[in-house]
Amino acid sequence: QSFFKPIQGASPPPPISRNTKISVVGVGNVGMAIAQTILTQALADEIALVDVNADKLRGEMLDLQHAAAFLPRTKISASVDYSCTFGSDLVIVTAGARQITGESRLNLLQRNLALFSKMIPPLAAGSPDTILLIVSNPVDVLTYVAWKLSGFPSNRVIGSGTNLDSSRFRFLIADHLDLNAQDVQAYIVGEHGDSSVALWSSISIGGVPILSFLERQQIAYETQTLAKIHKEVVEGAYEVIRLKGYTSWAIGYSVASLARSILRDQRSIHPVSVLAKGFYGIDGGEPFLSLPAQLGRSGVLGVTNIHLTEDEAIQLQESAKTILEVQSQLGV
Ligand code: NAI
Ligand code: 2OP
Repeated sequence: QSFFKPIQGASPPPPISRNTKISVVGVGNVGMAIAQTILTQALADEIALVDVNADKLRGEMLDLQHAAAFLPRTKISASVDYSCTFGSDLVIVTAGARQITGESRLNLLQRNLALFSKMIPPLAAGSPDTILLIVSNPVDVLTYVAWKLSGFPSNRVIGSGTNLDSSRFRFLIADHLDLNAQDVQAYIVGEHGDSSVALWSSISIGGVPILSFLERQQIAYETQTLAKIHKEVVEGAYEVIRLKGYTSWAIGYSVASLARSILRDQRSIHPVSVLAKGFYGIDGGEPFLSLPAQLGRSGVLGVTNIHLTEDEAIQLQESAKTILEVQSQLGV
């Protein structure tokens, strides 16, 4: 029964084309920042929320639904049961323990590994064609775990990785030089965390490769200044956690940008956690870590071939070793 009467001579509606459905698993600080950014950016027709905390889950669902008059029309559902995620195009996993002040991401592994063993199989079975986007920490190792537990091809299992660290990096460079961060092309790669690597040699601003420009103009720059900026990137999350208890807004925007590139087939390049075996001299094992990857509707379309200095390549290989060491103790 429709509320509206059709106008005279109208044809029946065409078959409904498929909706875009995104599921967000875990409605804590991070899950909700992601859900609300996705909503405001009109990236999905349907958002399904899952959490084990039934009251918090229903409260968050209602609170978002009550904003309907100000948002693009989106169906929002929520359940403690994974069945509400079935048929998703994109499943974003944020459930799990977070760091307390001073704690490293890698320290969360055992707690979140147990959760992943329960969550990933039903999520994968209910949405066999979906793309899994992992955010829970330690994100690189858990992306590997999700890949193994889902049985999905590697292009459909992605970790949010250093997309966030690279935004922090671009912000700091832009702030230092009084520029717009969107004009700064700069990547942090490797582990999302303490062993991440700043690719200074490939930074460009408005199309100008910055280090070679400074060298050509014989403008002195201090390598300590560069190291200080990278240190600020690495310590950024620790500082936010010490000050407000968790990080949320930046990861919300970071993941929404990934959702857009994937679901709208934007073919844009993001530093995200992918199966890195065979790239940049990373051999042995199957580490997931961030490399600049092209993202589109089928997930990871490929990894770009940026020129790394010898030093950058060694640092990246060391970061891969750190992750592999942790992965080798998992037994998944
Ligand atoms: P939070 O404590 O606010 O939320 C976690 C949520 O997971 C809670 O609502 C909890 O009920 C839920 N949960 C626990 N077990 C579950 C299960 N089996 N199924 C469904 N939901 C379950 O934590 P917050 O701040 O949202 O952080 C979540 C994760 O995201 C942490 O691991 C954190 O380290 C990570 N994170 C990752 C970032 C990245 O760049 N990759 C950035 C920021 C946080
Ligand atoms: C972040 O970098 C804590 O991994 C989280 O914000």
